[in-house]
Amino acid sequence: MPASFVSSPLDAGRVVASLGPLASRYRIEVHPAIDSTSTELKRRGAAGPIDGLVIAAETQTAGRGRHGRSWVDQPGGSLLFSLGWQAPVAAGSLPGLSLAVGVAACLALERLGIARTQLKWPNDLIFRHCKLGGILVETVNPRPDSVDVVIGIGINVRLEDAARDAVSAPVTDLQAAGWSGSRSELLAAVLSELGPTLERFAREGFHPFRAAWLARHAFQHRNVTIWSSGREIAAGRATNIDDDGALLLETPTGIRRFVSGELTLRPDRAGEPG
Ligand code: BTN
Repeated sequence: MPASFVSSPLDAGRVVASLGPLASRYRIEVHPAIDSTSTELKRRGAAGPIDGLVIAAETQTAGRGRHGRSWVDQPGGSLLFSLGWQAPVAAGSLPGLSLAVGVAACLALERLGIARTQLKWPNDLIFRHCKLGGILVETVNPRPDSVDVVIGIGINVRLEDAARDAVSAPVTDLQAAGWSGSRSELLAAVLSELGPTLERFAREGFHPFRAAWLARHAFQHRNVTIWSSGREIAAGRATNIDDDGALLLETPTGIRRFVSGELTLRPDRAGEPG
């Protein structure tokens, strides 16, 4: 393994030390290998409370992405973790949560000095047009006034070529963004942002995060195509998002609203206004 890929192991003690007083919010477990940190957290949720439980791993054997896709990691070179949150709201009050989590992740990276990370709707982390990380938000144990949320985050820290080749979309890592810190420090930074983000989201929903999200949208005001299940369903200009995180697309037939799907950039055609 080239020297540049040797990274210090994730260390729960270092995460706790970096978190300082905020550490009391979390119980942190680091696993050398696991099927999926999110799957494990869901299993734990079936047995007991998971609020504040953080499951992190050096590698996943069955990492999961959005839309049933798999999530490829670089053993020792990816940040892979899931956080349990008992949201004090009904499951139906969570639209936009994954976008708010995306803002928290960007703020954490910015706090570490990694500027210019962006978001692609709904919640891909992007650096220089390539995917830097992803967020998977799932719910379990719905109750009338609360629900358990499993927030899974994967960030590419140092990818080898084999890991890059295993992913069909263009990917990048934090090394390309000029960052060479430890994953323990990175996990602490993301958890530090997530705590206040989740508290505020529970009180006010997505609205207070909307401007920060739009300021970081990689495709803002760009011509895009929106896909669902591999099929193009609309094309237009990405102009805005709603207070519930829905994408607003300016199309030839007017503004259309989308709550799910995948975005790709549409090459601008000659003569078409930018
Ligand atoms: C996406 O498709 O962009 C979301 C990817 C989420 C990956 C993370 S890695 C940690 C957690 N465990 C998983 O199995 N998935 C999430």
